[in-house]
Amino acid sequence: MNNFLDLANARRSTRVFDGRGIKREDLELCAEAARLAPSACNSQPWKFIIIDDPHAKEAVIKDTLSGIYKMNSFSKDAGAFIAIISEKMKFPAWMGGKVRNTDFRRIDIGIACAHLVLQARELNIKTCILGWFNEGRLKKILSIPFWKKIELVIAMGYNDSEECPERRLKDKSEVVGFNKY
Ligand SMILES: Cc1cc2nc3c(=O)[nH]c(=O)nc-3n(C[C@H](O)[C@H](O)[C@H](O)COP(=O)(O)O)c2cc1C
Repeated sequence: MNNFLDLANARRSTRVFDGRGIKREDLELCAEAARLAPSACNSQPWKFIIIDDPHAKEAVIKDTLSGIYKMNSFSKDAGAFIAIISEKMKFPAWMGGKVRNTDFRRIDIGIACAHLVLQARELNIKTCILGWFNEGRLKKILSIPFWKKIELVIAMGYNDSEECPERRLKDKSEVVGFNKY
């Protein structure tokens, strides 16, 4: 991959993993890319919990991706997961969000998540962002206090196949404008 667009284009949600584990140093690189993300008032309102222990992974799959969350049970062969937890924002970011009626913390987390999955792809690690999982059970597995929010879980793993469903993107003219809505 020679440039950023190639990398962005190569990142697709992968829902079949081959069961291979992921090296700690590669997982750390992905977390480092997320840590470098910008955030409102530099709040860095995040924590990344890497789940690579086989027992913990099994618990995640069995307890948090089953029942009504079963649609994400394809992650059973993931090499690792990373849970992204939102943390406290700096006051100006919180206040600014109130005034603007927006949630800068979630925007920050989204950007960090994008850094993470793109870094993963550069390392040939495929990912799927999961927003649908049993959050209460995951908090128990990871010893996360009940008042915290797990925003997303990233399933990560290998799949050497280049096959991907065709991209269904909105037309450029629908999403990009110059100088007027
Ligand atoms: C916030 C968020 C939550 C998502 N949650 C899920 C999920 O729970 N399960 C799933 O299979 N894909 C999930 N996805 C992946 C999207 O379905 C996927 O990104 C989208 O269809 C575009 O496909 P692509 O990632 O291959 O470009 C999620 C993506 C985002 C950004």
